[in-house]
Amino acid sequence: MARIELKNIVKRYGDGFPAVNDVSLDIADGEFVILVGPSGCGKSTLLRMVVGLEDISEGDLLIDGKKVNDLAPRDRDLAMVFQNYALYPHLTVGENIAFPLRLNHSKVPENEVRERVQRAADMLELNDHLDRKPANLSGGQRQRVAMGRAIVRDAKAFLFDEPLSNLDAKLRGQMRTEIARMQRSLGTTTLYVTHDQTEAMTLGDRVAVLRKGVLQQVASPRELYEQPVNLFVAGFIGSPPMNFLPARVRGDRLELPFCDVPKPAAVGAEHDGRLLIVGVRPEHFDDADVTDAPDGAVTFQAQVDVTEWLGNELYAYVPFEAADETRAQLAELDRELDGESMRSQLVVSLDAMSGVRDGDTARLWFQPRRMHVFDPGTGQNLTRDEEKARRIAEQSEALRRRSLERAQAQQHDRVPA
Ligand SMILES: Nc1ncnc2c1ncn2[C@@H]1O[C@H](COP(=O)(O)OP(=O)(O)OP(=O)(O)O)[C@@H](O)[C@H]1O
Ligand SMILES: [Mg+2]
Repeated sequence: MARIELKNIVKRYGDGFPAVNDVSLDIADGEFVILVGPSGCGKSTLLRMVVGLEDISEGDLLIDGKKVNDLAPRDRDLAMVFQNYALYPHLTVGENIAFPLRLNHSKVPENEVRERVQRAADMLELNDHLDRKPANLSGGQRQRVAMGRAIVRDAKAFLFDEPLSNLDAKLRGQMRTEIARMQRSLGTTTLYVTHDQTEAMTLGDRVAVLRKGVLQQVASPRELYEQPVNLFVAGFIGSPPMNFLPARVRGDRLELPFCDVPKPAAVGAEHDGRLLIVGVRPEHFDDADVTDAPDGAVTFQAQVDVTEWLGNELYAYVPFEAADETRAQLAELDRELDGESMRSQLVVSLDAMSGVRDGDTARLWFQPRRMHVFDPGTGQNLTRDEEKARRIAEQSEALRRRSLERAQAQQHDRVPA
C-alpha cells in the first residue's frame, strides 16, 4: 500500500515535444485514480514514468514520501497490467501467475509461492484453469491471469494501461466490476488508464482528465459531471455528450437558439452583448407532453429531425444554426474529442414514453439552473460553483473511505485469523 505523489512532472521525448506537461497529482493510500483523455494526450507516458519504464524529464515522483525518480522499475515495487496482457505462452496459467515471485530477487519460498497463487486463483476464479496454457483461454480469462500476476506480488500499487480494451462490451462490463471488487477488498492504491468514460466514471474514486499532456481537472466523477472546470472536461464526460449552444448576452437575459433564459448571476456584466457558449446535458431536457415542466423550467418548441427509441429512453436530434463566432471553437473541440456528433444539432434524451417522432414539432423543457456557461475564448466554465464543488469533493471522499473500510472488514471476516 502506498501514497503516490507526482510533482510538476514533465516528459519530453527526443524532439523536445512535451508529451506530459507539468502534471501534479497526489494519490492517497488505497485510492483508485483514473487517468482519462483522448488518444495521444500522454496517459501511457505518464503511467510508464510512474512504473519506471520511461525517464522523467522534470519534476519529482514520490512513493510514500520518498523520491524514486532514479529507482529501477523492480525496486519501485509496483505491479503493472498492460493492454495486451503480456503473458508467457509457454508457461501454464499457474506458472504465469507465479512468475514475478520466482524471479531471483524476490526470494519467496516455494510453499508460499503455491499458497499465494492459490489465493489469487480463488479470487479471480481461475482454479479450473491453472494447468492450461494462455493460448487456450478466452480473452477475459487471459485478462484475469494478467491481473493474478499483478496481485500475487503484494505490490505497493497497481498500474493499469487500458486493460479491458481488447474485450467485447459484455466482458468489459463484467471485468470492470471484478476489478472494482478486487481493488476494494485488497485496498491497493491504483492508477488506471482508459479512454472509456464508463470505466472512468464507474471505477474511479477520482478521475484525472488530461488534454495534450496538461491536467485539466482532478475530481470525483460526480464533480466532473456537475461542476466541470472548462469546455473540454464538460464535453469529455457524459454520454451522449453535453450540448453546446451559442448564447448572446442581452442585459439580464441569454438568447439561445431555441429560447431566452435568465442570465445566471455568475455571468458578469462585462459579457453584455458578447457571444458565449451554453452547455446543457441531453438528460436535462424532457418532453413537456409527457412530464410536467418543474418550477423554473423553460419550455420551447423544437423541430425534431431524427429520433432513436432505446427502450429506456428516446433520443431526439434537433438541428440549429451555429453562429460563426462559436463554430470554430466548437469544431476544434469536436476534433479533439473524436466527436462523432456534429455540434450544430441538439441531442435530447426524453422519457421512453415520449411520442415524439421524426419530423415532429416537440414541446421540450429544461432547467436553466442546470446549464453551464463557458467563455468561448478560454473555455473556462463561468458558472462553476466552487462551494458546491467543495461539498461534492468532501462527500465523495467520505464515501470512498466508508466503502474501503467496509470492503476490508468483509475481507477480514472471510479470512480466519
Ligand atoms: N517513444 C516516443 N517517442 C516520441 N514521442 C512519443 C513516444 N511515445 C509517445 N510519444 C508521443 O507522446 C504523446 C503521448 O503519447 P501516449 O502514448 O502517452 O498517449 P496516450 O494518451 O497513451 O494515447 P492512447 O490513448 O492512444 O494510448 C503522443 O503525441 C505520442 O506521439
Ligand atoms: Mg496509451
